[in-house]
Amino acid sequence: MKKKILVVEDDQFFRETVCELLQKKFDVKEAASGKAAIEILSIADFDLVLSDIQMPGMTGIELLEWSQKNKPIPFVIMTGFSLLLETKTAFDLGAKGFVSKPFKSSELLATIDSIIGDKEKIEVAEVQPKQDYCKVSIDEFVARPKIDFDVFIKLSETKVIRLAHKGEQLPADRVQHYKEKGVKFLHILKEDFGKLVDFNMSLTRIIKDRDDISIEKKMNFIKYTGEVLMEKVFVMGLDKQSFTDGQNFLNMSLGVISDSKEHLDLLDALNANSDQVYAHSLGVALYSVMVAKKMGFEANSVLFKIMMAGLYHDIGKKEIDRALLEKPRQLLSQQERKIFETHVIRSQEILMQVHGVSEEVAQIVSEHHEDMTGNGYPLNKAVKFQHPLSRIIQAVNIFMELVVKPGNEHVTGPAAVAQIEKVYDNRVDKKVLAALKSIFSA
Ligand SMILES: [Fe+2]
Repeated sequence: MKKKILVVEDDQFFRETVCELLQKKFDVKEAASGKAAIEILSIADFDLVLSDIQMPGMTGIELLEWSQKNKPIPFVIMTGFSLLLETKTAFDLGAKGFVSKPFKSSELLATIDSIIGDKEKIEVAEVQPKQDYCKVSIDEFVARPKIDFDVFIKLSETKVIRLAHKGEQLPADRVQHYKEKGVKFLHILKEDFGKLVDFNMSLTRIIKDRDDISIEKKMNFIKYTGEVLMEKVFVMGLDKQSFTDGQNFLNMSLGVISDSKEHLDLLDALNANSDQVYAHSLGVALYSVMVAKKMGFEANSVLFKIMMAGLYHDIGKKEIDRALLEKPRQLLSQQERKIFETHVIRSQEILMQVHGVSEEVAQIVSEHHEDMTGNGYPLNKAVKFQHPLSRIIQAVNIFMELVVKPGNEHVTGPAAVAQIEKVYDNRVDKKVLAALKSIFSA
């Protein structure tokens, strides 16, 4: 005798499609709402309920609660990724399975078979119980739209659901949504961990030539850089804790970088051509890290990418005539402005040749003069094509232009942010500006 399934789904098209698929193998009844499902379940017996979560009136979760109390039947939920936490609740309440929309017919049948079929039981279709997983801060994925390994979320010790397959995209807004809902960690397979730690690998690549550096050169670099930071980059009213945290991170990163002759030579050349640009670059690195922390980015690998992009965003200026760089921007002729704007592409090209600078950092650097309206330069790139971290560097760059400038020593942080809000309006990310504002206690 065929097993009986009740399909509960408010979307008529979707409901009919699912019913048609299941009818080949099961005895299927349908309900267009949670309430209708209760009426049917009260008078007839079923082997399984397959229910949507989000429905007007009564949600799938409420139906599941009712069913657990009044008529316990294996319950499988169908849901989109945005309802992941509701999915977790459903499992806590006793749901037996999960299919994420959109799903392939084979996935749905496999899930149902695993619960009421003759095959060996598997609790969640997507579970890979024998695998070892490792925990990864969700921030790792904010800055990683492309992934080359499977990503999972753990619902419990034994239930793991795959969020994205190898080679797929994990959209930044979906990751942000999880973060806002309080998800702190995602999981990857232990065997994939090597692919994730390009942070550590970058470090290894950076320090490959550490023996070439004399201690004296390293000490001079750190001492000089520390002085520039205190003298030119500290802005009045800065929240002390944010500054200390940001500075600690920057010092740690510069300690790593200063083990590399290639990196030191690069920064030396930037400083020799224009100490103003060097101070500005340090400032963008430091403030971008502080802003990123305020925005909730905590993973060192993300902060390191931001720091590198901030430090090197204007590295292309080392190839541009100092007199042109120091001329007030509004006095540049059209020809000179064109030359000035080439610094972006020069920066990107230089960085692509440097050990330990990831492609992502080079991309962020190439986008530091793009904007939120798609009217920046050099490419007028629409925001959806920009790296999610570029907007931090973009706004902080403008901020530093205002505060680290001879003659602008009196400009306070909040005043500079207010000016950006007025002049740049929707060209900069409001969340970045809010975070920037919040690092000033006064
Ligand atoms: Fe720039």
